Amino acid sequence: MTPTARKASPKRRRPTPAPTAPVALGTYEIPGAAKRHPVLGLGLWGLGRWGPEDEARTKATIGRAWELGLRWFDTAEVYGNGRSERLLGEVLGRAAGTADDAYVVTKVSWEHLRPSQVRASLINSLERLGRRSVDLYLVHAPDRHVPLRETMSALESLYREGKVGAIGVSNFTVEELEEAARHLSEARLAVNQVEYNLFYREEGENVRDYCRTHRILVEAYTPLARGLLHGRYVDGARIPAEVRRYSHRLFEGDRLPEILARTRTLRELAEREEVPLASIALHWLEGRGAAPIVGMSRPEQVDGNLRAWAVRPSARVLAEAEAIARGDRA
Ligand SMILES: NC(=O)c1ccc[n+]([C@@H]2O[C@H](COP(=O)([O-])OP(=O)(O)OC[C@H]3O[C@@H](n4cnc5c(N)ncnc54)[C@H](OP(=O)(O)O)[C@@H]3O)[C@@H](O)[C@H]2O)c1
Repeated sequence: MTPTARKASPKRRRPTPAPTAPVALGTYEIPGAAKRHPVLGLGLWGLGRWGPEDEARTKATIGRAWELGLRWFDTAEVYGNGRSERLLGEVLGRAAGTADDAYVVTKVSWEHLRPSQVRASLINSLERLGRRSVDLYLVHAPDRHVPLRETMSALESLYREGKVGAIGVSNFTVEELEEAARHLSEARLAVNQVEYNLFYREEGENVRDYCRTHRILVEAYTPLARGLLHGRYVDGARIPAEVRRYSHRLFEGDRLPEILARTRTLRELAEREEVPLASIALHWLEGRGAAPIVGMSRPEQVDGNLRAWAVRPSARVLAEAEAIARGDRA
C-alpha cells in the first residue's frame, strides 16, 4: 500500500536532529476499516520481559512517543499477562485527545480462539486499556485445533457492535489468510502482522504479494532485527539471552557470523551515504508497502527512531542494502 502524506525526500546529507515537536506521520487507508492506519508504530511486547522497576521507564517511553506524534500502539493480551495493555491504558488515559487520535491495536491469544473466549478476551483487554473499542483487533497466531470459521465469525460480531474498528491476523500464511478471509462476510481482513525485516523476508515475500493483491496491510514486526539494524551487537557486544531466545533465526547457530558481517557492510553503506542505518531498515520496509512496528524500551529510542524515520534513503541505497542483506554483496 502507498501511504499518504509522505515526506519529500530530504536533500540534506546529514541526519536530522532529534524531533522536539510532534512529527506528522502518514497513514494508510485500509478498505472497510473505521480509521486510517499510521505508517509507523510503537510495539509494546517488551513489557512482558521487564520487571516492575521498569514501569516508570516504560510509561515515559509511551508518553514520549505520544508527545512526538506516534499514534499507533501495538499490544496484546499475552504481553506481560495484560500488564502491557494496562500500562498503555494508563498513559493514554492521562494524555489529552487520545480517545480519537490514538490507533490502538491489541491481539487475542492463540489460546483463546473459541468464540466465547474471543469475546471475553476483548472485554478484558478493553477494561485494561480503559477504552470502549480498539481500532484493530488481531488474531495473534492461528491454532490448528480451532476452526478459523468460528474465530472469524466471533470477530465479525464484535466488529458489527463497533467494539473493534477493523479485524486482522498475525503470523498467518497465505493459506490461512485465504481461509480467514473466506469466513468474513461484512468485514474485510485489514492486516496481517508478520516478522519482516531486511534479514528475514523469505516467507514475508509470499505473504506480502498476497496482501498487496488483496489490499491487506502488512505490519512488520521485529523491523530492526532487535536492534541489530541500529548497529547493536556488531562490534562484539554481548547479545542478551532473551534477544537470542526470541529471535533465534537471527542470533543462533551458524548463521550469526554471516548476519553480523552483512550488518557491518550495511553500516558502512549507511555511513558512506550519511544516513542512519535504521532509516535504511525502516524505509526498506515502507518501500515494500509494510508498516513497521518498532519495539522501543526507553524514551531516547523514540527520539532515535523518529530521527531515523525523518531521513529517507534513495531508492539506489535501499536496493544496495537489500543486496547486502541478501548476501549478494560482501
Ligand atoms: N505478532 C507477533 O507475534 C509479534 C512478535 C514479536 C513482536 N511483535 C510486535 O512488534 C514489536 C517490535 O518487535 P521487536 O521488539 O521484536 O523488534 P525490533 O523493533 O526489531 O527491536 C526492538 C529493540 O531494538 C532496540 N532498539 C529500538 N530502538 C532503538 C534505538 N533507537 N537505538 C538502539 N536500540 C534500539 C531495543 O532493544 P532494547 O530494549 O534491548 O534496548 C528494542 O527493544 C513488538 O514490541 C511487538 O509489539 C509482534
